[in-house]
Amino acid sequence: MQCYPFGKSGIKTTRLGLGLAALGRPGYINLGHADDLDRDYDVAAMQAGAFAVLDAAWDAGIRYFDAARSYGRAEEFLANWLTARKIDVNAVAVGSKWGYTYTAEWQVSAEKHEVKDHSLPMLQRQIGESHTLLGNHLDLYQIHSATLDSGVMDNQDVLSRLAALRNDGLLIGFSVSGANQAATIEKALSIRFDGELLFGGVQATFNLLERSAESALHAANDAGLGVIVKEALSNGRLTPRNDMPEFAEQRALLDRISAENGTTIDALAIAFVLSQPWVSVVLSGAATVAHLQSNVCALDVAWSAELDAQLADLTETAEAYWQTRSNLAWN
Ligand SMILES: NC(=O)c1ccc[n+]([C@@H]2O[C@H](COP(=O)([O-])OP(=O)(O)OC[C@H]3O[C@@H](n4cnc5c(N)ncnc54)[C@H](OP(=O)(O)O)[C@@H]3O)[C@@H](O)[C@H]2O)c1
Repeated sequence: MQCYPFGKSGIKTTRLGLGLAALGRPGYINLGHADDLDRDYDVAAMQAGAFAVLDAAWDAGIRYFDAARSYGRAEEFLANWLTARKIDVNAVAVGSKWGYTYTAEWQVSAEKHEVKDHSLPMLQRQIGESHTLLGNHLDLYQIHSATLDSGVMDNQDVLSRLAALRNDGLLIGFSVSGANQAATIEKALSIRFDGELLFGGVQATFNLLERSAESALHAANDAGLGVIVKEALSNGRLTPRNDMPEFAEQRALLDRISAENGTTIDALAIAFVLSQPWVSVVLSGAATVAHLQSNVCALDVAWSAELDAQLADLTETAEAYWQTRSNLAWN
């Protein structure tokens, strides 16, 4: 898979990446997650499962990997895999995130799976933990799910510390979530240190159902940021796995269009995101080798204005989209 510049950062990435949110911990919100892990939560078994998907991603040519402190043991599994496969720091790009603490204690059902804290002490603690695990492999460090409400974009102590990390050579980014992603991105694009934009990368949810951040992401890419898209499959809602009755009409349309184009729903959905001129990396969130290999077929889908028109009506309002997402069960 060819590598391309990640914005103006000097880092190179492939257009597809692998996210480890579903690989590093027993519980997650993606549809059918428990089945994918065969409900086997032994740490060694889960690491072996992660290694298998990481190997399949590497064999498919993927060279960007996305983790977070709150994804349980995701950073540890990724670090162990990079070591076990003797992967050189220049042969791959690795991103991680700070701002949430994993609190599920390796359980599928927990009162709280993760706790948010965008304070300076949290950043100090978690950058230390991520560096200890990933070392020089860590290229991009992102605020996890920044929102205007969290106040992090106005926290001068945190922003100054991030600027210092940037000056030490770490690419600084942020991910956004919720129905107001665009406003947070616009705010972040106004933050400069020493005359330079603080952030070199942004990660946002964008897919056939949730398109509200499109113009803000376009502006971010125009400003020189690398743009990573997460949840391209809407946590499994844009896959053959989604047989929710309230989604039947959309499902029938996706089945027909993907069949007419000789592909699968998931590859079609990822191809839609890959067709955006402002996107740098689209993340696969696969937790099985079969799903990863199916997702990669998106590269073979020839996108067209006709496909755009046929799928335009799938768009939901951001409020409705995030309400549905908040109802997805941890499994
Ligand atoms: N706030 C943030 O910063 C944030 C939030 C969410 C995600 N992310 C990043 O984005 C990455 C991807 O997002 P995501 O995993 O949340 O959501 P996603 O990519 O929208 O959904 C992935 C889900 O789709 C399922 N799937 C994929 N291909 C399939 C197929 N062919 N058939 C049936 N099911 C299929 C996967 O199932 P399997 O599990 O069975 O493979 C997985 O459950 C994460 O790993 C993480 O790195 C960041």
